Amino acid sequence: MSWWADAVGYEVYLRSFADSDGDGVGDFPGLTKRLDHLADLGIDAVWVTPFYPSPQRDFGYDVADYCDVDPAFGTLEQFDEFAARAHELGLKVVIDIVPNHSSSEHPWFRSALEGKDSPHRDHYVWRDPAPDGGPPNNWLAIFGGPAWTLDEASGQYYMHLFLPEQPDLNWASPAVHRAFEQVLEFWMARGVDGFRIDVAHSLCEDRSFADNPPKPGIGREPEDFGDLLHVHDIDQPETIEVYRSWRRLVADRDVLLIGEVYVDPAPAMDKYVDDALHLTFFFGLNPLEWDPVTFASTLREATESLPDGWGWIQGSHDEHRAVTRFGGGPEGVERSLALWAALFGLPGMPFLFQGEELGLENGVVAPEHVLDPVGKRIPEDGRDPCRTPMPWEPGAGHGFSSGEPWLISETRTDNETASVQAGDPESPLSRTRALLDARRSTAGRRGGPVDWLDAPEGVVAYRRGEVAHVANLTDGVVTVALPGPWDVAHATGEAVLVGDRLELGARTGAILGVVA
Ligand code: GLC
Repeated sequence: MSWWADAVGYEVYLRSFADSDGDGVGDFPGLTKRLDHLADLGIDAVWVTPFYPSPQRDFGYDVADYCDVDPAFGTLEQFDEFAARAHELGLKVVIDIVPNHSSSEHPWFRSALEGKDSPHRDHYVWRDPAPDGGPPNNWLAIFGGPAWTLDEASGQYYMHLFLPEQPDLNWASPAVHRAFEQVLEFWMARGVDGFRIDVAHSLCEDRSFADNPPKPGIGREPEDFGDLLHVHDIDQPETIEVYRSWRRLVADRDVLLIGEVYVDPAPAMDKYVDDALHLTFFFGLNPLEWDPVTFASTLREATESLPDGWGWIQGSHDEHRAVTRFGGGPEGVERSLALWAALFGLPGMPFLFQGEELGLENGVVAPEHVLDPVGKRIPEDGRDPCRTPMPWEPGAGHGFSSGEPWLISETRTDNETASVQAGDPESPLSRTRALLDARRSTAGRRGGPVDWLDAPEGVVAYRRGEVAHVANLTDGVVTVALPGPWDVAHATGEAVLVGDRLELGARTGAILGVVA
């Protein structure tokens, strides 16, 4: 059985996790010191966001060297120390890999800029201008503006799905394939247990480089990425071939490939996980307003569309925090816990994002302190609010850093800190831990296909083997008929079993086991 078959992951946004040297940026020694928190929480794997040398234009997702550590985050030796300590604690290490684009400071791109004869020119996507001298086609960048920037020296345009400082790598070039195989080998030799693949649907382009059709009914010239139908720039069959070859590379090594794949509709995801990636994240809940009925039906449809499961998340370093999106306050926390109870038994691998175990809401970042390139363009889409520092303990800097944090935000309360919450059995931290404990203690009895149980609208209820998960996402008390004798292993709120009827309080999830 693969290590991730029944595992829970945890995303560490390294810059904001724990700073050991007072420069205001989280780093590997800081993370290593705080690994006990993750082991105590009861997760199985840590996914660390990009830590490679980078000009940090997109906070690490602009990589200037795929085989080293940025001095702001530490050294390769400190990476090794982190991985060794994680393994000692029984935690797997998953690292973020960014194959769609590099930084414009990567030596490959600097070499490519030297001219058409550069040995690295073909590492990137170059096209001649359109007849009018403008960009070669109508493709747009996700971070705004055209997906093309003119290199005046050569008179050609290079492609970038994100910032101009994030030039797209050319996956039509065999040299790029070879280079990334070496990168994967480099990190596997250092003991990593998995790769989270950034924008995994985007590597290859349609070689026709034809215009993308505008989305029907937008009623204006396409201006934003979302105004186009992405027929030619993303989700190409050649991209899946890349993952098939990576799958062969990691075969027999028990190394996870999990992709950040955005394709719509969800059934189009099949091809990414058949014999290619092991898992992809499920993003289907993220754009939705909290709505118990839609959430419950969306989860069921997603599970049915990909029976081997998803990487289940409530949030990430790219989303507003789950508790905020779920309405905030104690109710937001209860909804989040009930949703975890629903997700924790489904096939696949749930991933908590740092701070979700503390029930954190969005951090408050004043307009003059906004740093995220997305937030600078479209404030309401900004990603800084979920990236503010982890609050560890009362006192200056809340234990994150002795210096000024890289991202300035309103101070959190002491009750939001990990150390205060650890001493309070009713805190989000204690409740998350208890739920994870219950998940683990029932693990051996949970398995096989998901058998959906009849339940009122807005309630997720299913059985897998000898375990049932029932989550009442609604704001009222519900009763669910559960044929057979059950025991409540754990509930996030009020749960009363009378005969074969389970009464669940508002916003409450439960894990039950069949009575032997
Ligand atoms: C992914 C990352 C995001 C980054 C983007 C470009 O979506 O999660 O943070 O900005 O890719 O690399």
